[in-house]
Amino acid sequence: MTETTTRAKSPRTLEAEALERATAVPFVAKADRAPLDMLSFATTETCELSCVFCHFNGPNAIKKAKTIAPALVEKGVRELSPGKMVYFAATGDFFQDPNALQHLRTTIALGHPVHVLSHGQNMPPPLIDDMLAMGVREFRFSVDHIEPHQYAKIRRGGELQRVLDTIDYLTERKQAIPDINVEINCILIGDAKERMAEFTEFWRPRIDAINFHAEYYDSLKFRSVFHVPEKRNDCHIQLYVMPSGEITPCCAMMVKAHEEDLTWLPDIREVSLQDAYDRLCDMYEDPDSELGKICSKCQWWIMWSEVKDGATPYMKTIRFDRRAGWLSRVPILGSAAVWAKATLNGLTARR
Ligand SMILES: C[S@@+](CC[C@H](N)C(=O)[O-])C[C@H]1O[C@@H](n2cnc3c(N)ncnc32)[C@H](O)[C@@H]1O
Ligand code: SF4
Repeated sequence: MTETTTRAKSPRTLEAEALERATAVPFVAKADRAPLDMLSFATTETCELSCVFCHFNGPNAIKKAKTIAPALVEKGVRELSPGKMVYFAATGDFFQDPNALQHLRTTIALGHPVHVLSHGQNMPPPLIDDMLAMGVREFRFSVDHIEPHQYAKIRRGGELQRVLDTIDYLTERKQAIPDINVEINCILIGDAKERMAEFTEFWRPRIDAINFHAEYYDSLKFRSVFHVPEKRNDCHIQLYVMPSGEITPCCAMMVKAHEEDLTWLPDIREVSLQDAYDRLCDMYEDPDSELGKICSKCQWWIMWSEVKDGATPYMKTIRFDRRAGWLSRVPILGSAAVWAKATLNGLTARR
């Protein structure tokens, strides 16, 4: 007689299977074709770190070194209505781009608020002062652990203290410039998912919001999601200009464009933003297009799914109200310990 033993599937396997199933269900894509209301630039492929999860500069990634020309950034920004946010990030790190400050200055001069994303390892006070003087107010740093040793194991070549120093300096400057907004991106890697409450308390007195998010372990697949929706939903087509000048409709295609040649992507040298958007929306809706074929297998649609228990499948944001702590700090300037206690006691998470 033979005995068959079936081993229970792990939660990770069940989650992966559920995501595969929801993605595979036949789906008719419909682009929302909204007016362009933001623009994002990944300006350089160069990075001085090599994070374990990174598909661009991680230990197993093919590292590249393209950097976009300032004239192409200006061309794009000029086509966006003034007042719309322009996001500056990189597939490497924005501050490895020698033209980073020039991009910010040009964009602000053309009437746009800007948002910068970095690992925050190389931002000395004079660089931050230059940005604040030109009007940069939105800062986001990627910090995936709160312990120096764990941080260094994940963000190879980085030191937790360096990004904490960057954030401390911005906090100091926030006394005079209260509309500075500092946020953290934290990938749910290692023990982060079990320790979200602890991470939140660590960051509460230091920043304005933390964004915990799932990890893509393959260019099109996720793990450590917050929940798996029963039904697939549409993506919002947005414009991401790459260091090569190619324009992608989403983060998935940014990763794909690093890994293989996607020659069918529109190029900012050749098309207007509106043409690029229309063309990408058409491709998104056509299952036989180069884009449509990839969309059918892609799980990045979870970025746009509905919120359940305070999170989309992809991301949970916890916002802190630093203003209460800010006011309580004023009379006790210089006493870091009292400041930390006052803020820990006095601040409330808005969500
Ligand atoms: C490619 S990075 C580049 C910008 C910058 N060097 C940084 O680390 O913030 C852009 C964002 O994607 C996140 N990211 C990178 N690889 C990821 C992955 N495999 N899964 C989820 N997020 C990832 C990073 O943490 C960062 O917040
Ligand atoms: S710092 Fe950013 S670009 Fe650099 S290796 Fe890490 S995730 Fe990748």
